[in-house]
Amino acid sequence: MSNKMWGGRFATGPDAIMEEINASIGFDQRLFRQDIAGSVAHATMLAETGILTHADRDAIIAGLAEVLAEIEGGSFTFSRALEDIHMNVESRLREKIGDAAGRLHTARSRNDQVATDFKLYVRDTIDTLVTQVQTLQLALVTRAEEEAETIMPGFTHLQSAQPVTFGHHLLAYVEMLGRDAGRLLDARKRLNESPLGSAALAGTPYPIDRSMTAEKLGFDRPTANSLDAVSDRDFILETLAAASICAMHLSRFAEEMVIWSSAQFGFVRLSDKFTTGSSIMPQKRNPDAAELVRAKIGRILGALTSLLVVMKGLPLAYSKDMQEDKEVAFDALDALSLSLAAMTGMVGDLVPNRERMRASASAGFSTATDIADWLVRELNIPFRDAHHITGQIVALAEQKNCGLEGLTIEDFKFIDQRIDSRIHKVLTVEASVAARQSYGGTAPANVLVQAARWKTELTGQEHEPRPLGKKKHAGHGDGGVE
Ligand code: ARG
Repeated sequence: MSNKMWGGRFATGPDAIMEEINASIGFDQRLFRQDIAGSVAHATMLAETGILTHADRDAIIAGLAEVLAEIEGGSFTFSRALEDIHMNVESRLREKIGDAAGRLHTARSRNDQVATDFKLYVRDTIDTLVTQVQTLQLALVTRAEEEAETIMPGFTHLQSAQPVTFGHHLLAYVEMLGRDAGRLLDARKRLNESPLGSAALAGTPYPIDRSMTAEKLGFDRPTANSLDAVSDRDFILETLAAASICAMHLSRFAEEMVIWSSAQFGFVRLSDKFTTGSSIMPQKRNPDAAELVRAKIGRILGALTSLLVVMKGLPLAYSKDMQEDKEVAFDALDALSLSLAAMTGMVGDLVPNRERMRASASAGFSTATDIADWLVRELNIPFRDAHHITGQIVALAEQKNCGLEGLTIEDFKFIDQRIDSRIHKVLTVEASVAARQSYGGTAPANVLVQAARWKTELTGQEHEPRPLGKKKHAGHGDGGVE
């Protein structure tokens, strides 16, 4: 039997393998809400413009409501012979209301229909993802405010560089995520034009009102070129690009959690909720959630690559290749959503070991730059020379097997007579971070200002920076209070 939706000129039905490669219902059924919303808008417009009778419109809309309820209630039987969500819905509608259902497809095609459905889906997903990104940002800001005075080593090349505050480090991710949300919202803005009514590729002779359907579906306007409308997949490519960058950020953070939670670093303890044990090594606490977040970028970027490759050789307008857009995109967007949720959980639950971080921060002569800066500031020595003198000081400390704080004033004078005892006050990691008050710098006072700014932005309520030295939640190692 030929397909009853398009089989007029076909004598027989498709080969079983053809059906298998052709059908998309296995994955595009998740577009059912968007598909039905699009049909309701289309039917409403067709009646308003006199193309459909009001009686047919009412039957169609009532029937679609029943189909929606069946799918939501789980009683709908999806048929692979009907290929995709569009024909599954329409076929069921026909069973319910008869011939009127056949008029729904006037002045549209599955090509503009699928573009419309997918745009609506991606738009909803962007909104959810942006909310999730902001939830993670808020979790990070909350921790950053608590850890504004917590000192940790800052790294370059993963070598101890200069001390930073843990709060500052966490706020770095808040900035990245802020850009991620911005990119997703940018994609949403460009996405928001309605393809519906572009029909198969060339538009339609019926006197339709595309602005009306656009408005009903929450689009800003109809697309201006029918060929572009049915063959454009920029909206999902852009969203996947934004998702890939966001996933890359999450992956970097996840990598840091893996490093920080190792016995060798011991900067943080991840909660039982986000770690697993080993069946053979009883001491193990594996940071599986972080590792999996780190890995998800692979599939998300893979989806972007895969779809760019699908699109790159397609002549205008629609080709069936484009059906391959959905499966990878759904998978990628699901993966990002799950990663964001897992990260939010881990951030909320992680317990920093402040003592350990502080001890590690002063290792590796991390305040050497502060000595050089002191020589410039107090003795008016040019920075290049100060750098050289400081190098000799570090070498001496290395020779004496002590930290910079362990050097006596005689040691300093041995390197350069002009140095006096005031140098000692710049040697601590506390002094080092407190001094970095340049805009965007790591000083606790700055971190508190930035945390308050983000809190204000994310909650929509004015937040003042908390005073220095107040309110710290319990961390490992120092009791955490005041
Ligand atoms: N299932 C198809 C897709 O996802 C719908 C569009 C089919 N259009 C066509 N001309 N066969 O792309």
